[in-house]
Amino acid sequence: MKGVILAGGLGTRLRPLTSITNKHLLPVFDRPMIYYPIQTLVEAGIKDIMLVTGGNAAGDFLRLIGNGSDFGLKHMNYTYQKREGGIAEALGLCRHFVGGDRVVVMLGDNILDGSIRKAVADFKSQESGAKIFLKTVANPREYGVAELKGHLVKNIVEKPRNPKSHYAVIGIYMYDSEVWDILKTLKPSGRGELEITDVNNAYIRAGRMTYEIVKGWWGDAGSSIEDLWRVNHYVGSKKLR
Ligand code: G1P
Repeated sequence: MKGVILAGGLGTRLRPLTSITNKHLLPVFDRPMIYYPIQTLVEAGIKDIMLVTGGNAAGDFLRLIGNGSDFGLKHMNYTYQKREGGIAEALGLCRHFVGGDRVVVMLGDNILDGSIRKAVADFKSQESGAKIFLKTVANPREYGVAELKGHLVKNIVEKPRNPKSHYAVIGIYMYDSEVWDILKTLKPSGRGELEITDVNNAYIRAGRMTYEIVKGWWGDAGSSIEDLWRVNHYVGSKKLR
């Protein structure tokens, strides 16, 4: 199983904090935001990781993370996304790295309290397809929202005006190698990006999507100043306790 962490983009929603740096380098209490997703993957036993960066200060990731010794890694892989083409486009840059393997994709601004170790093991024993993680939220309009039917996901709508549920699709996705064929079929959305929600809906239509509800705390530190503050507050209070 390979790991991909996405840390590109201009972080426009966090300006001026992101005017001269990359959002994933901003502090979350005592370390840069990007440390948390790397830690989550490493803790789950994923050691082959590709970091996709872009936008401001892309080179700073190399200075900060190097070969990943802070995480007990021997090596870290990097690639560069030239424009703001979306999460699915960024994943497409990793095809040569992932090869015929399966992949866990994590957004560099998503922070989890708990472990994904068991979910990774479950996905390894899933015959084929994909797996997503859901979390109930008070403000589903800000996320990809899943509509459930029994133990299946019926569909996902990206930032819906009238959400059909309170289940946000969080920024960790697991895919088999069919993902590369799905990526080829995507068309840019209204915001001009290749959407990860379209990838997930393709797996849902094929009947090959499983999901898990996240039990512990989850935060998306990068979608607004308020979220960045909330995540800092949660992580800081927990570490100080
Ligand atoms: C992205 C995804 C969205 C998901 C969210 C989780 O949104 O497009 O489906 O719910 O991450 O953090 P973004 O925050 O990039 O707008």
